Amino acid sequence: MAKISSVLNSGFFFTSPVKLPTSEPEERLITMEEVSWHDNANDCWIIIYDRVYDITDFLDEHPGGGDILLEYAGRDASVAFRGSGHSKQALRALSRFEIGELPTHERIFRKPGGFKISDIPE
Ligand code: HEM
Repeated sequence: MAKISSVLNSGFFFTSPVKLPTSEPEERLITMEEVSWHDNANDCWIIIYDRVYDITDFLDEHPGGGDILLEYAGRDASVAFRGSGHSKQALRALSRFEIGELPTHERIFRKPGGFKISDIPE
């Protein structure tokens, strides 16, 4: 007869927990270090308000031009985005390009005690 310890160690009782599908999947966490590798016209990620956007396909569409976006390729563009007085429509357009968000310890805005701006997306 198999010893109880060998049954316990067999992995039978220790399978990884089943992840139930949720209506809102968790956002992918992407570090600033990872973002920094995507810093050119063929692969361009930027950070705005702690969220990460792949704007490679948007460079040619941006009403303010692609060059200005490339200045922030692989970097945080929150201040530049805000400073250029974008409309609510532009703010909403961001979600189209979102691929993830920064881990909490790298955030500026969306964390407990973070820098508060009333009109940034939740
Ligand atoms: C994914 C990020 C961005 C999106 C979706 C976006 C979207 C837009 C949109 C829709 C406009 C037209 C005006 C408006 O509706 O506000 C615009 C204009 C503009 N954007 Fe962006 N933008 C982004 C990032 C940036 C960044 C990082 C800068 C950096 C400074 C910038 C600079 C400008 C400028 C200067 C204009 C004015 C162009 C003009 O009126 O001649 N944008 N942007």
